[in-house]
Amino acid sequence: MLKIGIINGPNLNMLGKRDPNIYGNLTLEEMNHKIESFAKEENIELTIKQSNSEGDIIDSIQHFSSQADGLIINPAAYTHYSYAIADALRDCKIPTIEVHLSDIYSREDFRKKSVTASACTEQIAGFGYQSYILAIYALQDLIRSKPEKIK
Ligand code: DQA
Repeated sequence: MLKIGIINGPNLNMLGKRDPNIYGNLTLEEMNHKIESFAKEENIELTIKQSNSEGDIIDSIQHFSSQADGLIINPAAYTHYSYAIADALRDCKIPTIEVHLSDIYSREDFRKKSVTASACTEQIAGFGYQSYILAIYALQDLIRSKPEKIK
């Protein structure tokens, strides 16, 4: 069974209340429920974490690097300036997809730059919660192309 970790960064615990025009109406719990249902159908063991703190996010990246087969991360605002998270992702030994609910390239200028994306395998942005579903699809292919690495 493939093991995939998901890390959600700061303020994503406020989904549902936060800018619904941009991030939609689903709460984090409702969104996680949809992602978990999909993972179950795909026979994937999913662990989802959320933190508002940079250090916790780095600890989670380091944890999943040895405990999961693939990682999905939405670093939220840290995307745009956290070199510490980018360094942790660079050290991460498993395929990693950066996701965003919104299309960061059609928003304010400061959001158009991701310092973390180049440390990930790929980036998916702008599909709402489906960004996570697409990332699970992509990760399955990436992981299965290196089957000897499945934990
Ligand atoms: C976000 C985009 C970021 O710019 C923002 O700071 C977030 C959420 C997204 O999922 O669209 O908190 O990562």
